[in-house]
Amino acid sequence: MGGGARASAPRMTALLRPAMERDLSQLAQIEKSSFADPWSEESFRRLLGVAPAIFLVALFPPDEAVAGYVVAFSIAEDGELLNVAVDPKFRGKGLAGQMLDAALIELGARRVRTAFLEVRESNSAARALYKSRGFTEIGRRSNYYRRPVEDALVLRRTLEVAEGDGRRAQGSFADC
Ligand SMILES: CC(C)(COP(=O)(O)OP(=O)(O)OC[C@H]1O[C@@H](n2cnc3c(N)ncnc32)[C@H](O)[C@@H]1OP(=O)(O)O)[C@@H](O)C(=O)NCCC(=O)NCCS
Repeated sequence: MGGGARASAPRMTALLRPAMERDLSQLAQIEKSSFADPWSEESFRRLLGVAPAIFLVALFPPDEAVAGYVVAFSIAEDGELLNVAVDPKFRGKGLAGQMLDAALIELGARRVRTAFLEVRESNSAARALYKSRGFTEIGRRSNYYRRPVEDALVLRRTLEVAEGDGRRAQGSFADC
């Protein structure tokens, strides 16, 4: 996937809402255009209504086309980012950042303390996205990905404490 510096593009604000059955075929299309080893439509369907899952879609007016999605999981005090992608025609407008921020806020609301994720070493766009949201590299998994085989970098972020909460919250995201 692409990387390196990119020209600044006008920002857009999307409507974010939980994913629904009617979104799934569009999500599968975006997934296919984003990954060499894509999730199936059925994989997305299995996440609908699953309590630990945070599964959000971004919609753009006027026709509310599905422009991207984010999937995260919370298990006790750990969070994991499983997937984030944006339709190629909507990239560079701040959308992934908006979705990631929303997922992190929801993880924090669930009292997640640490978020983790895994990212292909060559995926400089995604690595720049995560860096912009405060994730730092903590390890590497050799030959973690298929098609093509490649190492994964493991990233971690500590989540902020809600005012008056009295706890530290961290976050970690994985397997993206
Ligand atoms: C990675 C991806 C989700 C980014 O989506 P996007 O909507 O274009 O990202 P945003 O516009 O919200 O960018 C947010 C930040 O990410 C970084 N970034 C995103 N794309 C970048 C690129 N191509 N080059 C450099 N930095 C990039 C920038 O730091 C940007 O911050 P900025 O506001 O200072 O520009 C998108 O390229 C994509 O869907 N890729 C294919 C799927 C994928 O690789 N998912 C991640 C799996 S781990």
